[in-house]
Amino acid sequence: MPYYSQLGQLPPKRHIQFRRPDGALYSEEVFGTEGFVGPTSTMYHIHPPTQVTGWKAMYTTKPEYVERDTMRMRHVKTSGRKPKGDPVTGRVVLFGNADCEMSICLPAEPMDYHFKNAMGDECIFIHHGTGTVYTTFGTLKFHEKDYIIIPKGVTYRMVFDPKSDRISDAAPDKFLVIETANGSHIGPPRRYVSKQTSQFLEHAPYCERDLRMPQLPLTFDESGKFEVRIKARDCVHSYIYDYHPLDVVGWDGCYYPYIFNIDDFSPIVGKHHMPPPTHQTFEAHNFVICSFCPRLLDFHPLAIPVPYNHSNLDSDEVLYYVEGNYKARKGIEQGSLTLHPQGIPHGPHPGTVEASLGAKSTNELAVMCDTFRPLFPTQAAIEGDDPAYPASWQGEHFPKSAGQHHANGEHKSEKAAADGPSVNTWT
Ligand SMILES: [Fe+2]
Repeated sequence: MPYYSQLGQLPPKRHIQFRRPDGALYSEEVFGTEGFVGPTSTMYHIHPPTQVTGWKAMYTTKPEYVERDTMRMRHVKTSGRKPKGDPVTGRVVLFGNADCEMSICLPAEPMDYHFKNAMGDECIFIHHGTGTVYTTFGTLKFHEKDYIIIPKGVTYRMVFDPKSDRISDAAPDKFLVIETANGSHIGPPRRYVSKQTSQFLEHAPYCERDLRMPQLPLTFDESGKFEVRIKARDCVHSYIYDYHPLDVVGWDGCYYPYIFNIDDFSPIVGKHHMPPPTHQTFEAHNFVICSFCPRLLDFHPLAIPVPYNHSNLDSDEVLYYVEGNYKARKGIEQGSLTLHPQGIPHGPHPGTVEASLGAKSTNELAVMCDTFRPLFPTQAAIEGDDPAYPASWQGEHFPKSAGQHHANGEHKSEKAAADGPSVNTWT
């Protein structure tokens, strides 16, 4: 994050003596980016963070992409996937390129180690499940629809609550991960943040009050054998320490993990159809992450609420469908992922333009990741891919809805139009 925060104990100045209760010095660590000129935090460890006792390479994480020369629409269902692995080993990359990797995870077992992604930032979108992420910067409680942003290099352990603790959600724990593969960092769109103060500007669809910061407990002063698995060079390494890796007593700076819940995104609406950049929530180098949230629709009397056909000449678009009414989209269901590549136009399915007329609101909820370079599928994506999806824009048309407008904008049925149950604005 671009703005300053702090947690725990700190000495009054940087780089001065700061002593433990037993008189020994705490170990200061400058945790910085971009060669000491990017966002940085300074943390104070009980133990020197350099005291490694063992290390070994474990397994490769380099995704194997297939059908790299094929350009076509794809629809991958994830709802039938079986839980496996833990919140790290259970991740299955579905799409990616040299800039980002997108994976789905249904963890089946807990992590008995800590993890550090030393290759990129992670944006973890919680679809189902609640729990806690314990990090070097403090504790983050998470629940459904949270985006958890974990910057590169942050050590953490993700712990899901037992199913019996759940009140409303009986679905398996499940989350989507979008991580940088190009070394860039995920943050809010720069146009929403003041250049002078790093404050969120008035036209931003969310602000500081919507972000959940790391909380106490921060410090785990324990001795023993502790494993930290570090992802670097497309390989996970096992590092062993004689003390708990979360031994920080205080930190301050502008580089730390945080949470933003998608329900706290304030959609920007307009008289006419608003384009996807109004839904933008985060950005990194060569890709953006957008949130399509429930909202009022366009209010011109002749407005068409669903998008126009569009050729996104410089982007591949991936949508992850979270909630909403999917009647207006052939075959789409909760947990579906669609890929609409640059190269050909895409748009509303047949009949959905007519059916949308007069609708006043949408209950859609979807996460979108647009990349500026082509995305490639993995074999895991191909196995769940619907081969008929590219042809789903032809054939039978959807029935016209009761909320359809006359040409002059007069409603046939105001109630049906107000309900607008079948309108989704993503394509
Ligand atoms: Fe699109």
